[in-house]
Amino acid sequence: MAEQHQKLKTTIAVLGCGDVGATLAYTLLLKPICSEVILVDPKTALLEAQVRDLADATYRGNTGTKVKAGTHKDAGQADIIVITAGAKQKPGESRLSLLSRNLHILESIFSSMSPINPHAVLLLVANPVDILTYFARELSGLPESQVIGTGTSLDSARLRGKLSEKTEVSASSIDAYVLGEHGDSQFIAWSSIAIGTTPLRLALPESTTEEFRKEVADHTRGAAAAIIASKGCTAYGVANIAASICKYIMYDQRTIRPLSFYQPELGCCLSMPAVIGRKGIVRPMPIVLNSPEQEELEKCAAGLRAIIEGAEQELAADKTLEKALKES
Ligand SMILES: NC(=O)c1ccc[n+]([C@@H]2O[C@H](COP(=O)([O-])OP(=O)(O)OC[C@H]3O[C@@H](n4cnc5c(N)ncnc54)[C@H](O)[C@@H]3O)[C@@H](O)[C@H]2O)c1
Repeated sequence: MAEQHQKLKTTIAVLGCGDVGATLAYTLLLKPICSEVILVDPKTALLEAQVRDLADATYRGNTGTKVKAGTHKDAGQADIIVITAGAKQKPGESRLSLLSRNLHILESIFSSMSPINPHAVLLLVANPVDILTYFARELSGLPESQVIGTGTSLDSARLRGKLSEKTEVSASSIDAYVLGEHGDSQFIAWSSIAIGTTPLRLALPESTTEEFRKEVADHTRGAAAAIIASKGCTAYGVANIAASICKYIMYDQRTIRPLSFYQPELGCCLSMPAVIGRKGIVRPMPIVLNSPEQEELEKCAAGLRAIIEGAEQELAADKTLEKALKES
């Protein structure tokens, strides 16, 4: 009976209950899209306090979702496993500088979660998200389509927000994508932006000027750093984006968003548009890029591949050292 009840539950596990994880859990309670949210964090006092505080937000009866603390093993059996665990950027620090610390955390997470529910979808939020998504594919053993990163979905939301101001049209009526790395080498696919069904260049002729594009791209690329400089983290935007992605997965919604996933022809994970459903990436949605955009994409992929190679060497050196220590 208990086992049957277990199968009827829909569970989202959130690994890491710092600023992003706790805000995501709160957003999931308010949506609500699953029967329980499991939080996991090695800081046990923080974990317990976050669970109690979040549970207090459920007693008024406006959500049926329960929140509880769990282990990595429990998290491994969830329908969706969201990884926010890891160090965050300090003011002025780049996302890529977090790699070494967060890659080691990622490795330890997978060894403690194993064996993972084969139907789980893994959603990476921790940074550098594209590189961690690449390694999570290998470490999780899940099918490629079930391992995704939030990627540039947040940057794209910021882009739509900026264009909404400029065009005085609701952000929800704007189709605009930031693609590539969730980081400095990201680029805007200007040639495909549409306001309703009207190409941006017709809806807003000034949008073709270099000055306009620089202002918008600087805003999109620099938004996180500017927020972190003043409040030490970004949490609401990414939590909202991650909760929406969880909803597209849970409801098999087939929504198109730019997400980070493996690009076989580029040899790395980066953001391109895809249809999202219960199995994660249902299929990539091809986008027509003009030649400067295609060049930016290739440059971005080359940069990410170089970082992946460096990280692979670091992991191999760690393994050699570990083996030598065991044998000594
Ligand atoms: N992808 C995006 O758009 C985006 C946006 C904002 C933040 N982030 C990233 O999200 C990550 C988290 O940011 P934050 O502000 O919540 O940081 P935080 O420091 O507030 O929280 C991180 C939490 O992870 C926990 N943790 C460490 N090891 C763990 C493990 N093995 N298992 C479970 N939990 C573990 C820590 O104890 C901590 O509580 C950072 O890497 C940050 O850069 C990504």
